[in-house]
Amino acid sequence: MIISVGSDHAGFEQKQQLVAYLEEAGHQVIDEGPQSDDRVDYPDFAALVGKDVAEGRAERGVLVCGTGIGMALAACKIPGVRAANIINAQFAELCREHNDANVITLSGRFVSLDENKAILDTFLTTEFAGGRHADRVAKLNALDHE
Ligand code: RB5
Repeated sequence: MIISVGSDHAGFEQKQQLVAYLEEAGHQVIDEGPQSDDRVDYPDFAALVGKDVAEGRAERGVLVCGTGIGMALAACKIPGVRAANIINAQFAELCREHNDANVITLSGRFVSLDENKAILDTFLTTEFAGGRHADRVAKLNALDHE
């Protein structure tokens, strides 16, 4: 899978580890940066990753900041992005099955690397359930154009 990844300074350390983890698993990673832990602003990187997904350069996006909250707020501003801030594997499963989330945002400060790896594995392997959820996601997508 082609996966776009980004962070801010608070998520940088885990972003580096997660890029390596994804590449070892055979994914093609677009690393949108940053390339150091110098202080940066999370909306800049959420926009880069969100646009990679919305414009079809990547199939999924992964963003890491201190909490994941700012990244989710920013990424959802990009039309076509359904970003979810996830802190456990069960919610990772549900954000795929029910919401067809195409970007996941993670906490580099409050969730361990091992937990985030498990969250990512679930996010990348769980299919959208469709059915009754499809109309709801269609309504969600329609909000991009209001
Ligand atoms: C940076 O200090 C922090 O605010 C940011 O990483 C993120 O947690 C915002 O939601």
